[in-house]
Amino acid sequence: MQTTYFLFVAALVLLHFVTTGSASIIVANNHNNSASDHNALLAFKAAIFDPQRIIPTNWSTSTSVCNWIGITCNARHHRVAAIDLSYMRIAGTMPPQLGNLSFLVRLNVMNNSFHGHLPTELSRLRRLKYISLEGNAFEGELPSWLGGLTALRYLSFRDNGFSGSLSGRLSNFTKLETIRLGFNFFTGNLSEEFSALPKLKLLEIQYNQLAGPLPLALFNLSSLQVFGFTSNSLSGYLPAHICDYLPQLQGFYLSLNNIEGEIPSGIGECSGLQVLSLSYNKFRGYIPKEFWNLTTLTQIALGGNDLTGKLPT
Ligand SMILES: *[C@@H]1O[C@H](CO)[C@@H](O)[C@H](O)[C@H]1NC(C)=O
Ligand SMILES: *[C@@H]1O[C@H](CO)[C@@H](O)[C@H](O)[C@H]1NC(C)=O
Ligand SMILES: *[C@@H]1O[C@H](CO)[C@@H](O)[C@H](O)[C@H]1NC(C)=O
Ligand SMILES: *[C@@H]1O[C@H](CO)[C@@H](O)[C@H](O)[C@H]1NC(C)=O
Ligand SMILES: *[C@@H]1O[C@H](CO)[C@@H](O)[C@H](O)[C@H]1NC(C)=O
Ligand SMILES: *[C@@H]1O[C@H](CO)[C@@H](O)[C@H](O)[C@H]1NC(C)=O
Ligand SMILES: *[C@@H]1O[C@H](CO)[C@@H](O)[C@H](O)[C@H]1NC(C)=O
Ligand SMILES: *[C@@H]1O[C@H](CO)[C@@H](O)[C@H](O)[C@H]1NC(C)=O
Repeated sequence: MQTTYFLFVAALVLLHFVTTGSASIIVANNHNNSASDHNALLAFKAAIFDPQRIIPTNWSTSTSVCNWIGITCNARHHRVAAIDLSYMRIAGTMPPQLGNLSFLVRLNVMNNSFHGHLPTELSRLRRLKYISLEGNAFEGELPSWLGGLTALRYLSFRDNGFSGSLSGRLSNFTKLETIRLGFNFFTGNLSEEFSALPKLKLLEIQYNQLAGPLPLALFNLSSLQVFGFTSNSLSGYLPAHICDYLPQLQGFYLSLNNIEGEIPSGIGECSGLQVLSLSYNKFRGYIPKEFWNLTTLTQIALGGNDLTGKLPT
């Protein structure tokens, strides 16, 4: 009798565990469907100021979010896959609820007047491949949680009010192809972190306040086509074998910095180089003769240095 009673209680406990367990799974599913997309976009709508009143009238609760202007849903799950509110002359902030858009692949709010800090909840957008916040007034540091968005291929925070040190913030982006961080207030030294960016084709951090030497790892980004650091406070020298590991290089922009020494003869190995911009640095000595073999060059800027010698005819 004792044993039977014990088994009965044990069975009840087990039954209780199983039912509450499955109940919480149902709750989780309810909170992870198109209703949460709807809630997230309503929170976004409330955070947007639109003087032309396009969003307030178009984002109507009587139709599916998939019909809202600037919203694209994926065909399979009818979940929000893309937000494109570029060039809409709207202002506002990014609410934390945007982190609930678990199917979001593209987020583009380019050329508006959004401001404020990015909520850490955006770190939950595991499917995000493309983010452009370009041409707004966002501020704060480049968040370290961005490195956790492992699907990311395109990142543009260009032309905002971002600040803080960039040191160590660009590691882990193993799939990133484009980084555009120009026209902000980033500071700090560039570390050797760049060795972890094997797919990177475009790296633009022009018009910031970066200092210190150019790390050698930068010259090892084998997919790099555009190297853009115009107008910072970078110092040090260009490596002798500048192009040995940059076979794809097309644009090298380093004007308005404090780079010194000679232009390395290895520049002649940059066989696809179209733009070379080294003006307003502290280069001295002769332009290497290998330079004149670069038949692909269309733009050269070397003024504002201490270079000597004659230009060939
Ligand atoms: C929501 O659903 C997606 C896709 O099924 C899944 O990857 C994600 O982990 C879920 N999130 C939560 C909080 O359950
Ligand atoms: C919202 O905009 C979309 C795309 O321009 C349009 O197809 C739709 O009819 C509009 N809906 C409302 C309620 O204005
Ligand atoms: C969405 O996000 C907010 C804030 O991050 C959170 O409080 C809420 O529980 C989330 N889930 C749903 C279904 O809205
Ligand atoms: C934003 O768009 C407007 C209108 O098209 C344009 O005049 C302005 O220069 C753009 N701003 C930026 C930062 O691209
Ligand atoms: C980057 O990767 C390293 C090693 O895999 C890990 O320890 C670190 O937390 C990651 N950083 C970010 C910002 O995700
Ligand atoms: C960072 O750059 C500054 C300015 O050039 C330099 O004095 C400092 O030694 C650098 N720090 C590191 C860790 O490279
Ligand atoms: C550059 O790449 C070469 C060959 O892959 C490697 O041996 C070297 O350690 C790398 N240098 C830096 C500074 O990352
Ligand atoms: C320039 O190219 C020509 C023809 O390809 C070659 O003969 C010459 O050695 C090259 N000069 C230099 C300095 O690399």
